Amino acid sequence: MANSKPHAIVIPYPYQGHITPMINLCLNLASKNLIITFIPLEFNHHSISKAHNLHADEDIFTGARNAGLDIRYAPVSDGFPVDFDRDGNDVDRNYTDYWKTMFLDFPGRVDGLVAGIVASSGDSPPSIMITDTFFSWVATPICEKYGLLNVSLWTQPATVFAINYHFDLLRQNAHFPPQHGKGEEGIINYIPGVGSMRPRDLMSYVQYPDMIPMLTEIEVKSFDHVKQADFILYNTVEELESDTLSALNQILPSFPIGPINFYDASLARSLRPHTDCTEWLSSKPPSSVLYISFGSINFIADKEEVAEFAYGLLMSKVYFIWVIKDDNIHDQEKKFLPSDFKDGMGNRGLVVPWCDQGGVLASPATGGFLTHCGWNSVLESMWHGVPMICYPFLVDQPTNRKLVVDDWKIGVNLCDGGRVTREEVAEKIDVVMKGNSALRMKCEVEKVRKKLQDSLGGEGSSHKNLDLFCEGLKLRL
Ligand code: UDX
Repeated sequence: MANSKPHAIVIPYPYQGHITPMINLCLNLASKNLIITFIPLEFNHHSISKAHNLHADEDIFTGARNAGLDIRYAPVSDGFPVDFDRDGNDVDRNYTDYWKTMFLDFPGRVDGLVAGIVASSGDSPPSIMITDTFFSWVATPICEKYGLLNVSLWTQPATVFAINYHFDLLRQNAHFPPQHGKGEEGIINYIPGVGSMRPRDLMSYVQYPDMIPMLTEIEVKSFDHVKQADFILYNTVEELESDTLSALNQILPSFPIGPINFYDASLARSLRPHTDCTEWLSSKPPSSVLYISFGSINFIADKEEVAEFAYGLLMSKVYFIWVIKDDNIHDQEKKFLPSDFKDGMGNRGLVVPWCDQGGVLASPATGGFLTHCGWNSVLESMWHGVPMICYPFLVDQPTNRKLVVDDWKIGVNLCDGGRVTREEVAEKIDVVMKGNSALRMKCEVEKVRKKLQDSLGGEGSSHKNLDLFCEGLKLRL
């Protein structure tokens, strides 16, 4: 007799900001009685195991499995050695070569693995495939071949999904690729469900498609394929992007189920080991610490820019925790930080290679977040009611900045184009962390915090949408 539990094969995209929500989604779905086979890339499996000192017979879901959830685990190789630098500082080499090979090779590798899972799953064969939207080009042929329902998880705001979905409209209106005249100056007011925005609010690959051509290619290819998906899940909240989500729902069955990041904080999901900041933070007064992090992808600021941040921090006189990501923090400090910075900061700051960001933002001592506006960082900041100073670099970050600063009014721009100066850094820290402006911003972010936290409660929209999605799945199986 066939097992009545639906079985989903799940493939995360191999970056921190994508893996975290996907792991949480798996826990959610497994607790709703789905069987999950989680397929991480082998190099991600190695990083997580190393960061969390897992034994050879353990994986991130061992605890969940012991608690009774049916989550299986089957890492897949991408064909590169685990220590190959897939991003590299030279994006034209490592990153581009890596993804060129992935386009050619990876669907075949996944196909082989899925064939094995189908053959060995007995009375619970997989009937669903859940992939990150950036792997929809892997999902389409495999779902067709094995008759699997095709579910796509979008880990950025629905606004960005909507704009990407309408690459054709951007092309027609000369915004992609941008053309001088209309494309440069014109307002974008034709994306269904998305309010007016300026060209500078568009994602980096739309504004500068030739800056990292492979990045643009991945976005376009993914959105060509995601149109075949049966369901789209979004790591966002209905109350934050309701017009956009209803417009998307006219095109594809759309379920905002975010913020997915907060299901089980104890689970290992970080690709890097944390430096513990708890004791230092607990000795600081409420709302006195600025947290600074530019996310998980390679740090793009140059030495002069970093020096302006450093001197601006010293001028502001706030306490701070600054994440400067590198496996060797001493080299990184030498490379980036001004030589007199350490003496200047004394005991006022911590510079760490990686930390428990959720824990830092949750601390009552944290009063502001200087962020690159990666979507997970934005969600985590909103969840903990921390106002933001926004300094976007790449991909969706300029668009996320627009949502945070212009639409939701829970952050400020660090600078409006051009090079950032130390005076601006000090001034914006004051705006977000001191006086009446800080109180006003705190009040706005509290309203958003409540929306997010309510959405996951028993009557909350995301909670209900996840149930609706599960019912929708069962109707289609
Ligand atoms: C990029 C994009 O900007 C983002 O919008 C997209 O969804 C994923 O790719 P990334 O640079 O990884 O994102 O930033 P972000 O989305 O903010 O994710 C970073 C994650 O790393 C967060 O969940 C954060 O909590 C975690 N982090 C960061 C740590 O755990 N420790 C740190 O020290 C810094």
